[in-house]
Amino acid sequence: MLDLPDKIKNLIGNENFSYDDVGMSDSTVIIFTDKVLKIQSISEESEHEYQVMEWLQDKLPVPRVLAYEKAEDKNYLLMTKVSGKMSCADQYMRNPEQLVNLLAEGLKMLWKVDISNCTYMHGLDEKLQMAKHNVQNNVVDMDDVEPETFGENGFESSEHLLKWLITNRPEEEFVFSHGDFCLPNIFLSDEKISGYIDLGKAGIADRWQDIALCYRSLLHNFEGKYCDKKYQGFRADILFEKLDIVPDWDKIRYYTLLDELF
Ligand SMILES: Nc1ncnc2c1ncn2[C@@H]1O[C@H](COP(=O)(O)OP(=O)(O)O)[C@@H](O)[C@H]1O
Ligand SMILES: [Mg+2]
Repeated sequence: MLDLPDKIKNLIGNENFSYDDVGMSDSTVIIFTDKVLKIQSISEESEHEYQVMEWLQDKLPVPRVLAYEKAEDKNYLLMTKVSGKMSCADQYMRNPEQLVNLLAEGLKMLWKVDISNCTYMHGLDEKLQMAKHNVQNNVVDMDDVEPETFGENGFESSEHLLKWLITNRPEEEFVFSHGDFCLPNIFLSDEKISGYIDLGKAGIADRWQDIALCYRSLLHNFEGKYCDKKYQGFRADILFEKLDIVPDWDKIRYYTLLDELF
């Protein structure tokens, strides 16, 4: 077992555990019987995840924070394990109507959160600033991008993409946004959302931020991008039908492109 802060060690005792291999960030996630420990390098995003999780406790189904400790350059977030399964679990992928219904519900629940006293701004002012930082410090993961984003018919470089995003910045329609609304970050159980996790990018942002990433994630998961299994005959556009919303393709493209710089 890793060298953990005493407070965390005392809370987990000798419980059995396994390491998660789903998350794509450089965090270490350890799954216990009914708790989860997320260890991250200290950063604005990882501290924000803890703060936003606390803020959301009585507002949305999110894990309960059991302990939050910092030691050296890491922070340790011990939280309850949410019930159910990730929304990309086979059981849901085989029932796309039900899955998309639940995800649409999940988006609508976010939009109902009262943001009048929320201090966590995560709109384009903040995101473009962070994107600039990522580009300037060369931390954009160019291996984890859509094939068409860069190259022959795409952008020449991350600098060019950033410039385009700044020039083509759309009007924002502010709601409470998850910030990384992809299937592995949304848990389902008993035909409802049982947990929103991975909250490091959550806060006030444009409604289309989450719609865009949800749409992209549906496409990726049904195409079998993250596992070998492909699911045939899925129409991602049912998302807009369930949301009863006309797709704003410009914004979907914009927020999908913006995410390339994170
Ligand atoms: N509170 C939790 N309850 C249940 N599973 C969790 C919880 N937190 C994380 N996980 C599992 O670990 C995975 C990675 O955690 P996540 O917070 O999404 O990290 P990353 O930032 O690496 O994506 C999730 O997709 C999920 O399968
Ligand atoms: Mg995640």
